[in-house]
Amino acid sequence: MGREALEAAIADYLGKPVQKREEGRVICKCFDVTDDKIRRVAWENHLTTVEDVSNFTKAGGGCGECKSEIEKILAELWSVKEAPAPSLPRKLTNLQKIALIQEIIETDIRPLLQADNGDMELIDIDSNRVLVSLRVCAADVPHLM
Ligand code: FES
Repeated sequence: MGREALEAAIADYLGKPVQKREEGRVICKCFDVTDDKIRRVAWENHLTTVEDVSNFTKAGGGCGECKSEIEKILAELWSVKEAPAPSLPRKLTNLQKIALIQEIIETDIRPLLQADNGDMELIDIDSNRVLVSLRVCAADVPHLM
């Protein structure tokens, strides 16, 4: 209601004709409320029940004959389409895990560590735990010499 009043006031201020009713099929004859208005108001205000729609638009608040139509509109509006199940990562064998981790260490991690006179070595893989050895060049750390 407030939005319509504001839109009407703006249209009046701009000298434009005031739009009396939204487009669409009249669902509630008692209050002249269309399906487009019900969808818009329900969407904008996250309305999920006929009572909510009645509170915002008055639709359904008179004789009540339109309530089933409003329910259908809400059901259609909020129906959640099943998203396809995300593809699960394939289960890797231990050898595949080792090869993948070793590749990441060699290509992504070791070059960065070596650039700072460090290094890294893969020691073991236990289920989802990866054991590595980090090394620092002793010449760069005076207290290690
Ligand atoms: S038609 Fe909607 S309340 Fe009467």
